[in-house]
Amino acid sequence: MNVQKIRDGLVIDHIRAGTGLRIFNWLKLDRVPFSVALIMNVLSDQMGKKDIIKIDNVIDIDYSVLGFIDPNITVNVVEDEHVSRKISLSLPEQVENVIHCRNPRCITSSESGIPHVFHLVDKKRAEYACIYCDELYRAGIGEFL
Ligand code: CTP
Ligand code: ZN
Repeated sequence: MNVQKIRDGLVIDHIRAGTGLRIFNWLKLDRVPFSVALIMNVLSDQMGKKDIIKIDNVIDIDYSVLGFIDPNITVNVVEDEHVSRKISLSLPEQVENVIHCRNPRCITSSESGIPHVFHLVDKKRAEYACIYCDELYRAGIGEFL
């Protein structure tokens, strides 16, 4: 499938197949006035299949949250039709108010106004634990354990 090159903006590449729509929605790209593309299930030598998002505008992205969603992503910065920079992502040490602890006995459930903080406990498995109750979340599959 051919999708036009962009002029000035970002290409979010090497997204795990199936995760592109989640990132597209998280960035609220359905409501922007500039050109955007979500390409799903692109064949890739390294990954089998991958998703790609092209954004023809320079936008601000929280790279730590993006790394939490998928650390294998590459963000290409495109200037004047050429890739000027490749940003590699990684799993952040901590995320705040990105996922909500689902444990009904957690202090975040019984009291309001407490930030939901998860910290990285197992890099290999991409596992995060709630700092209050140790509820486990696996970022790789996007699910609580
Ligand atoms: N791209 C684009 N518009 C441009 C330049 C590049 O949409 N003006 C896209 C390419 O289609 C590709 C991505 O940005 O999907 C990265 O481009 P490039 O670095 O040229 O590709 P590769 O070398 O294949 O990247 P990598 O090695 O990171 O896989
Ligand atoms: Zn908790």
